[in-house]
Amino acid sequence: MSKTATLEIDGKKHEFPLITGTENEVAIDIKTLRAATGGVTTIDPGYKNTGSCESAITFLNGEEGILRYRGYAIEDLAEKADFLEVAYLLIFGDLPTTEQLEKFHNDIKEESHVDEDVKKIIEAFPKSAHPMGVLSSLTSALTAFNPSSVNVDSEEDMYKAIVKILGKFPVLVAWTMRKSQGQPLNYGSKNLGYVENILKMMFEKPNEDYKQNDILLNALDKLLILHADHEQNCSTSTVRMVGSSHASLFASLSSGISALWGPLHGGANQAVLEMLEAIKEDGGDTKKFMAKAKDKEDPFRLMGFGHRVYKNFDPRAKIIKVAADEVLGDLGVEDPVLDIAKGLASEALSDEYFVKRKLYPNVDFYSGIIYRAMGIPVEMFTVMFALGRLPGWIAQWKEMRLRKEPIGRPRQVYIGETHREFTPLEKR
Ligand code: ACO
Repeated sequence: MSKTATLEIDGKKHEFPLITGTENEVAIDIKTLRAATGGVTTIDPGYKNTGSCESAITFLNGEEGILRYRGYAIEDLAEKADFLEVAYLLIFGDLPTTEQLEKFHNDIKEESHVDEDVKKIIEAFPKSAHPMGVLSSLTSALTAFNPSSVNVDSEEDMYKAIVKILGKFPVLVAWTMRKSQGQPLNYGSKNLGYVENILKMMFEKPNEDYKQNDILLNALDKLLILHADHEQNCSTSTVRMVGSSHASLFASLSSGISALWGPLHGGANQAVLEMLEAIKEDGGDTKKFMAKAKDKEDPFRLMGFGHRVYKNFDPRAKIIKVAADEVLGDLGVEDPVLDIAKGLASEALSDEYFVKRKLYPNVDFYSGIIYRAMGIPVEMFTVMFALGRLPGWIAQWKEMRLRKEPIGRPRQVYIGETHREFTPLEKR
């Protein structure tokens, strides 16, 4: 393949280098475009064709349905690793040794408490507040309780900030859920595994000993791994963008949580369950809702279908579909909503509209069903996504800072009024 791309504007040719990634992805490097062309820019709403960075963290190939973290297949990681190992892998680049993992976990445990005054902030929220709003605010509030900004040139400082947020975030997640349920705010136990401890903090009742359920533990571990990173999606790009102004790690993460909240992104898992419930309430006629989704006059979309990058089966959806069957089977849960989900999926997979547009079930189509079987309230589903995505956001933020990327500041094509004479108020 040639090493340059030629662009011709008004008869003048400009050459731009092509860069090739390790998986042979080719990009036109347009860093010099504006200088070379006297200010010509590109336009690409939704960044469908724009690479915002070079990254060594996650590779995904939407056509072939491949997802790898640091070179390891998601299928292998979901089956053979645990969430903390995957977090270490994403953040530091390699799978940890036993000693590294133990130290990592111990250091996180040392940080697994939050300032008691954070409870006052939680108390100020109404019980009805959406947990994503609460989580985003609390994560931002951590900046106030941990004011020193990270010296990104110090490996030690960077490590401390990372274990701090990995220690405190699950407490915020659990407290967010407990607040919405009127449960007392608790602490976990240093004797438990990372994910085990999260379950204890979420589900422990004040008047009984908490008993671990291995089925739930395995299911949650897998779900968190599947959500741990997904290259330059909306929330991750937000974290990198906010962090590029050298805003703190916690502030950057807080903005990522807000981005994840939207129903076209992480909020889809809540939207899927609400949609399935609505179909059930309406009598369970999946065909009616399929028709609505295809009707261009109707804003309804089949939530949990389609993906910006996967134009083949989302590999995470394949793993999660099996997990959903297992969890529900093991727990003995009969869920009519799962039958509706299966019906919708099989209809969509053979429907011309969906086939033509390559709209397959995505990861969120099944995750909500598992969360529901685990007893997690619907409003908490996207919070669980955020919990899983945390290591990915941290890894991407760290990479962006260590690569000393410039502040994110896109251009635009102005389409507003040209210069107008000002009219004084009394003459308008
Ligand atoms: N139901 C019905 N039609 C759909 C759906 C859907 N879920 N998704 C896309 N389409 C149609 C669009 O109407 C469009 O049709 P057209 O070409 O006739 O105009 C075509 O498919 C392409 O859709 P776009 O919106 O252009 O695709 P884009 O890549 O921008 O959007 C997205 C991807 C946002 C995920 C979209 O498929 C969607 O809204 N899905 C439902 C929400 C969802 O499940 N989000 C979770 C994504 S996964 C995640 O964030 C973890």
